[in-house]
Amino acid sequence: SPTENHKTYTKCVGPDYRPEKPIATVSTEVPYDNVHTLKQTPQLIALLTMIRDKNTQRADFIFYSNRIIRLLVEEGLNHLPVVEHAITTPVGRTYAGVMFQGKICGVSIMRAGEAMEQGLRDCCRSVRIGKILIQRDEETSQPKLFYDKLPEDIADRWVLLLDPMFATGGSATMAVDVLISRGVPENRILFLNLIASPEGIHTFAKRFPKLRVVTAFIDAGLDEKNYIVPGLGDFGDRFYTM
Ligand code: URA
Repeated sequence: SPTENHKTYTKCVGPDYRPEKPIATVSTEVPYDNVHTLKQTPQLIALLTMIRDKNTQRADFIFYSNRIIRLLVEEGLNHLPVVEHAITTPVGRTYAGVMFQGKICGVSIMRAGEAMEQGLRDCCRSVRIGKILIQRDEETSQPKLFYDKLPEDIADRWVLLLDPMFATGGSATMAVDVLISRGVPENRILFLNLIASPEGIHTFAKRFPKLRVVTAFIDAGLDEKNYIVPGLGDFGDRFYTM
């Protein structure tokens, strides 16, 4: 039942040296290897608390969202291949390191996904970023591709797909279909989002088992209007207008 689906589970969070730890809502567990939820640190839970609060004003919403976006991008980059790269330090010693291999690009699902572009640019200087606009078709009420602008060599790149709220997965599914139709292999797509629903995660796991999802938190479910619950409301409205 929806009530069962929306049940909220809680757990203690906080540093181990504190004997008394506060209780907080936990991310929903899912059984898929290709879904990577950020480490549920006290920092992350505090950041999520700020952006979920309906009383948080726009400037703070942007500031705290950007911090989470930065964590998502850094974690996303951990899934890209590296090769051995030994270097010499200024004191003449060798350091056996690694370096990134391969080209990447971002693709934002407009409009809310564009809010994640700066976080990607902050980590990857002069990164190419494409855009996809998907909206509900008035006649069929199905998602429809309205616009896309993607790097011409996208098939040779790893793609970081950006959309902050992963609800039903309708738009994201269409966006991934577009990427695959342009020759991007499914296993070279990473979908970064702040909050996911179990429904969206299950849909993707069945349809795109080789694509990786990196999310900060998996919520309890969706309401009757397909908003994520507990969620944070409309991300685009809160980031751009409210
Ligand atoms: N998009 C949003 O902005 N919020 C939701 O809860 C779901 C989709």
